[in-house]
Amino acid sequence: MAVPREVAERAARLAREIERHNHLYYVLDAPEITDAQWDELFAELAALEAAWPGLATPDSPTQRVGAKPAEGFAEVSHRVPMLSLANAFSDEDVAAFDRRCREGLGKEAVEYSCELKFDGLAVTLAYEDGVLAKGATRGDGETGEDVTANLRTIRAIPLRLRAEPPPRLLEVRGEVLMLRRDFEAFNARARAAGEKTLVNPRNGAAGGLRQLDPRLTAKRRLSFFAYGIGAHEGWAVPPTHAALLDALAALGFPVARERRTATGEAGLLAFYADIGARRDALPCDIDGVVYKVNARAEQEALGFVSRAPRWAVAHKFPAEEAVTELLDIGVQVGRTGAITPVARLAPVFVGGTTVSSATLHNEDEIRRKEVWRRDRVVVRRAGDVIPEVARVAQAGPREEGDRFAMPAACPECGSAIARLEGEAIARCTGGLICPAQRKAALLHFASRRAMDIEGLGDRLVDQLVDAGLVRTPADLYRLDHAALAGLERMADKSAANVLAAIGRSREATLPRFVFALGIRHVGEVTAKDLARHFGTLDALMAADAARLQEAPDVGPVVAESVARFFAEPHNRAVIADLRAAGVRWAEGEPARGAPEGPFAGKIVVLTGTLPTMTRDEAKALVEAAGGRVAGSVSKKTHFVVAGSEAGSKLERARELGIEVLDEARLRAMLEERETP
Ligand code: IVH
Repeated sequence: MAVPREVAERAARLAREIERHNHLYYVLDAPEITDAQWDELFAELAALEAAWPGLATPDSPTQRVGAKPAEGFAEVSHRVPMLSLANAFSDEDVAAFDRRCREGLGKEAVEYSCELKFDGLAVTLAYEDGVLAKGATRGDGETGEDVTANLRTIRAIPLRLRAEPPPRLLEVRGEVLMLRRDFEAFNARARAAGEKTLVNPRNGAAGGLRQLDPRLTAKRRLSFFAYGIGAHEGWAVPPTHAALLDALAALGFPVARERRTATGEAGLLAFYADIGARRDALPCDIDGVVYKVNARAEQEALGFVSRAPRWAVAHKFPAEEAVTELLDIGVQVGRTGAITPVARLAPVFVGGTTVSSATLHNEDEIRRKEVWRRDRVVVRRAGDVIPEVARVAQAGPREEGDRFAMPAACPECGSAIARLEGEAIARCTGGLICPAQRKAALLHFASRRAMDIEGLGDRLVDQLVDAGLVRTPADLYRLDHAALAGLERMADKSAANVLAAIGRSREATLPRFVFALGIRHVGEVTAKDLARHFGTLDALMAADAARLQEAPDVGPVVAESVARFFAEPHNRAVIADLRAAGVRWAEGEPARGAPEGPFAGKIVVLTGTLPTMTRDEAKALVEAAGGRVAGSVSKKTHFVVAGSEAGSKLERARELGIEVLDEARLRAMLEERETP
């Protein structure tokens, strides 16, 4: 039957596309699509050719594997062709593979050697009389490129076999790749030097092997794992693949530790699940696992189909990267007000699920990756990590409106968005009213060191907010017994207790209240410093960034954060509301002169468990004696008070030569106040 014209045209177009992508990927090392997409194009072409005999021409990409060698390297004919592996994408595919092996061998159960499918590129290393004589890439499987000089730069590859006497000839086959840590280090260095970074470890390895100057290859610090052999003379090949891997390790080759034998489909799937769970912790990228019939005699009995062995299969993991269109860039507000740019995507299947949005992290990342609306982007979803836009695959029209600009106002509450000096993250400044931050803000407000509202924990805050009873902290003071008791699992008694705790919290102190507001960078100590310095809330609220910096230990970042918080009208409204609801505190005169007491002007760090006082009690005593309690040890620290199980802070104090006190000594010093 004649091939319909549309079919012939589609096949020709696919063939051209695949060839173009092969060239981009294998020769230019600049892929435009992901491996998974390439697989899809290839599968479609293979299916058309299978359905219409006569369609496949000798120059179809399905008729050969890989691409022609790049110019500049000598060609090498492989003595034994370098084959590829058939793929399995599902449990059913694995079951079918096992069935074919069992049937082919006429056995009930077949033993397999299970190993990693490295995501690098295949090479063959010829050792003559034990010495590395030639190394080549796979190329099209028949002919590769002589990259001996580059391979010699890879320290994982032995230049001489550990065997006495060595075999006359042994070709060792395996994968050249870049370990994740080398990849990260390379990119960190490149970024620091303002040079181009590598897209991923695989491209780093491929590009590295193709350098005409081996010194450039060496800079990439490539690695190698052995997984098989080619031609051999004068070597007793072990009878199983597992023993072969052990023998290669003994000859001095890196062989991945993650390997074991397994029998039957269940054994294979267990290995797949085990490696899948540990994938992120491996030192290198893998794109699946490989199962090989273990006994060499059985491998030989099964033989080959076209260019792949019948006795092996690659069980692939779901692709972690996919290309899709970036429809729009919005922003999301986190619990602490962090504004994260989020890409809205044309839905795409990646990492085993359909993804329609992905994080862009922050403004700097968008700029670094040069991502615009309507670009085609690579979406990455590795393991349980949230999907991210990894890079641009292809630029879109890029009209002016396509560029991302951080909005001026929070999409949730309309408050100003601010990005403080030196910080990567922009934040909503409407901490007290922003719905996205509501629960976190309320929890902080009620926490023990803030307004200390006992009983107002996670669950109750969730209930109050979800029921629409509380929007801002001021709403807490308007709750009545009926509303509280109406909540699920809220007994009469507990409702009364919570109401009483809320009521008690009306009598606050200025430092507590300032801390309770949840201003970014204002912890308990800073809140105290600010309260003491300004004396009244109105004075604090009226201070500009310059005045704020006059307070002790308040630098430009804290000052800007405080100024922006009080500049936000929404926040001022909630504060007025809180005062109207009866929240009050004693106000004092702005602090003048230095504090008094035996610890006046001293910075103290508490660590470990003290024999008789709690941390809070010790803190209160130190503060009453004029000292300040800080959270971490630095050169500015005057004393470290250490109890049992004191750890790194104590070590640091000793390093810095800071005086260390135990509880007894602390008490003695505190009492010095009474002895003038
Ligand atoms: S064996 C006779 N084992 O996958 C089978 N290949 O499509 C020859 N690969 O070109 C290959 N890890 O680059 C084998 N443990 C492994 C592998 C592996 C990765 C690559 C190799 C090869 C491709 C096969």
